[in-house]
Amino acid sequence: MSKMPPTNGPIDRLGRGVRDLRISVTDRCNFRCVYCMPKEVFGRDYAFLPRDLVLSFEEITRLARIFLDLGVRKLRITGGEPLARRGLPTLVSMLAALRSPDGEPIDLTLTTNGAALRALADPLRSAGLQRVTVSLDSLDETTFRAMNGVDFPVSRVLDGIAAARDAGLDPIKVNMVVKRGLNEGSILPLARWARAERVILRVIEYMDVGHSNGWRLDEVVPAAEVIELIDREMPLEAVEPNYPGEVALRWRYRDGDGELGIIASVSQPFCGACTRARLSAEGKLYTCLFAVDGFDLRGLLRSGASDAEVSGAIERVWTARTDRYSELRSAETAGLPKVEMFALGG
Ligand code: GTP
Ligand code: 5AD
Ligand code: SF4
Ligand code: SF4
Repeated sequence: MSKMPPTNGPIDRLGRGVRDLRISVTDRCNFRCVYCMPKEVFGRDYAFLPRDLVLSFEEITRLARIFLDLGVRKLRITGGEPLARRGLPTLVSMLAALRSPDGEPIDLTLTTNGAALRALADPLRSAGLQRVTVSLDSLDETTFRAMNGVDFPVSRVLDGIAAARDAGLDPIKVNMVVKRGLNEGSILPLARWARAERVILRVIEYMDVGHSNGWRLDEVVPAAEVIELIDREMPLEAVEPNYPGEVALRWRYRDGDGELGIIASVSQPFCGACTRARLSAEGKLYTCLFAVDGFDLRGLLRSGASDAEVSGAIERVWTARTDRYSELRSAETAGLPKVEMFALGG
């Protein structure tokens, strides 16, 4: 069992501090991934949040600063698709200028579908982004186009990854969600490619996030099966986590360089060390990826609350936190209404 990192900030009911803040900067996305925003549900006329309901860069930065005072040391920008937010490099530079109270470094990163990385990798790097995680579910053209729902070509994402590397973003991680019957055949080709390209592949178990993807347990390919598959061709050994509560289980290739991560949120839940807070684009604070609702910070900010008042409200939410959804998951919970992944950024 991993031990909890020390914190001077609030502790929830299960003894967990708040270390990571995942900031969704928009609910918009140009993809319609089958496991997140299936196009049958989210058509072209789907109404995203109007602009005035989305937090401004100033509001986001103010909240991030307050969270740093409460113990956060990792800021991850998410979406929807975060690169769809106009002027994103400006926000990155504002976040990169923040400091933690004790001088501990802040990990500033971003999760993207890669479509706009060719245009934005350089400006983001110059603004102070350190590293990036790109989602890519297959190298096979037909499979990838079907999974992203908008016929987006693999080559454009690969080019985005190349642009990220050229810009000096490091490390580059690639997230692959595996859905049985769709892309388990893509695991080995992606693992081989990632190794050759020196990017860290992370294979993610398909989750019952939101309430639109029609999730079924038998569509999850368990981590153990993924490891067995890769190990047969490229022998693996387990590696210690980089930090307590790391989401991905780490593996290295026995016969040389390269690392692989497995995010086994269904078969091996990791709620015990979950120190993640999530801020939605409309300014709600969620204490779990599977929450039904969040706490309205935007209302508080826009009512003229002081930093101390905002901080106090966050502390109250956090100290009341009991979430451990993945540990309690069952056939019943999978069908419950929950916030959508694209509204929360995963
Ligand atoms: P690093 O900072 O590079 O270690 O990344 P990370 O582990 O935070 O990973 P990332 O943000 O790329 O998350 C990868 C995926 O893991 C997400 O898109 C989700 O699918 C899943 N995930 C991340 N955090 C949680 C969590 O708190 N609970 C659950 N159930 N899944 C999570
Ligand atoms: N299950 C697992 N991962 C998901 N993501 C989105 N929806 C799901 C799901 N249902 C992941 C994407 C991306 C990140 C933003 O969230 O792959 O890497
Ligand atoms: Fe868009 Fe990411 Fe959701 Fe795919 S997983 S639809 S890229 S937000
Ligand atoms: Fe954290 Fe909720 Fe995920 Fe558990 S299910 S790891 S509590 S976000």
